[in-house]
Amino acid sequence: FIPAPPDLYGPERKNSRGLDLAIRENRKRLASEQNRFDAGAPYPCGPIVAGKVSKGGDTVTKSPADLDFAVAKLTEAGEKDIEAAFRSAAAYFDAWNASGGASRAAILRKMADSLETEMERLIAVMTRETGKTLNDGVAEVREAVDFLRYYASQAEEKFASPVRLPGPAGETNHIELKGRGIFVCISPWNFPLAIFTGQIAAALAAGNTVLAKPAEQSPLIAFEAVRLFQKAGLPEQALHLLPGDGKVGAALVKDARVRGVAFTGSTEVARIINRTLADKDGPITPLIAETGGLNGMFVDTSALREQVIDDAILSSFGSAGQRCSALRAIFLPEDTADQIVEGLKGAMDTLTLGDPADPSVDIGPVIDADARKTLEEHIERMGREAKVLHRAPLSEEMKGKGYYLAPALVELPSLDVLTDEKFGPILHVVRYKRSKLKETAERLAAKGYGLTLGVHSRLQRFFETIRDAVPAGNVYVNRNMTGAVVGVQPFGGEGLSGTGPKAGGPHYLARFASERVVTINI
Ligand code: NAD
Ligand code: ALA
Repeated sequence: FIPAPPDLYGPERKNSRGLDLAIRENRKRLASEQNRFDAGAPYPCGPIVAGKVSKGGDTVTKSPADLDFAVAKLTEAGEKDIEAAFRSAAAYFDAWNASGGASRAAILRKMADSLETEMERLIAVMTRETGKTLNDGVAEVREAVDFLRYYASQAEEKFASPVRLPGPAGETNHIELKGRGIFVCISPWNFPLAIFTGQIAAALAAGNTVLAKPAEQSPLIAFEAVRLFQKAGLPEQALHLLPGDGKVGAALVKDARVRGVAFTGSTEVARIINRTLADKDGPITPLIAETGGLNGMFVDTSALREQVIDDAILSSFGSAGQRCSALRAIFLPEDTADQIVEGLKGAMDTLTLGDPADPSVDIGPVIDADARKTLEEHIERMGREAKVLHRAPLSEEMKGKGYYLAPALVELPSLDVLTDEKFGPILHVVRYKRSKLKETAERLAAKGYGLTLGVHSRLQRFFETIRDAVPAGNVYVNRNMTGAVVGVQPFGGEGLSGTGPKAGGPHYLARFASERVVTINI
């Protein structure tokens, strides 16, 4: 482990403190904000184009945690909204790009401050709209705040003024970073504020104007975030919100005026976008794609069993398994597998599933009916082709109330049974013989993903074998595998898991920019 050079990550930064849920006052504030939000629902929501804010529409969205709860009255973006957004973003690009890293950073910092001020309200929105637990809601707001402040600092450092390069006598050389033009930012529902805000913050910081397409499952939190950007002083033409389903995303991506796309979501949709960009006329358009993972955790006999169990439960079932970083397959040595499996079953029995607004709840619902159906079908298939070892307790009442799904522990006869990411609370167990460790790791690598990887061991050689065999953007040793912190664990993968660069890392902003070198013969 070679320590990073101290200047690589720029000046010391503090991450957002969030909200301590162990403090009763904080829980009380969250509860009263939730009551206030609930009393006013459903809320109008729709496109925000050139400052014109939609008054909402007839499509009523429902909470995955409570199917009787109406969250928003939505208007989806139509062709006219899309065209108006493109015109406004194109007309304003030069002015925004010329405004300089420091002034853009000041706006991002104001936005970060207002997210902290509005934290309780934003958590209330996400609890209802996407079923986020309170802990996950706090983490979500913190991450959004961290992205804003991190990219603000990066904008000041990297977009302030041209940097002098070496050259022969009689010549000066400078390199500078500039915005590319209109960036399309397409985000998923599982981090409906953090990733939505992070993509936009990076694109804006680098001098681009932005057309943002949130996931169809989470338009309201995106609407609230764009309103806050405006209150923070972001010029109306710099950012446009275009809610809707994949068709809206596809319409944005194919437009010849787009100069870059930032996408976070499934590998399948990333491929579709990649093909559209490759086939269309006009300039070659870069894609930054952050996608799914088939993430493994390798355990050896030197690992601390209780820690393995705690970390595996949190990594696989936390956030109802709806994190790209989540643990999908745990690899256990034959010698200790039985004890660890028993421990996992016991720990699953202590999980509380239910209303995510209740502070005692560990796991909320999955996002929608399709997700629950796909996951239940996979568990059923595992009952035939593998073995379902255990399900966490879930009452019939909760199953009827929302899209709740009892976390499942499944033992695989071989890794062949698992071909792709299953985006929910399902943990697959694979036993390995010590003599077959490397081969087992290589079979996971052959699946083609490369997002997160866990290792539980006290032996350097074991760690090195796994690290060298399995590609992964983020490797976690003797701890859980989720919850990467901005600037601390820059996040992102390779292969089927994405193009890089890492969100919340020192190289991210440059990918949103074009570089120009000016050579002057004096
Ligand atoms: P998704 O791919 O279904 O949708 C993501 C976004 O793409 C949505 O806004 C959707 O409307 C849009 N979209 C769908 N079809 C489109 C098209 N043809 N053209 C343009 N846009 C289109 O993913 P999801 O279900 O919202 O999110 C879950 C997935 O995201 C999981 O696979 C998860 O692993 C991944 N994810 C990855 C990261 C990461 O950082 N690597 C982070 C979070 C989520
Ligand atoms: N950054 C998120 C995590 O690490 C995806 O869980």
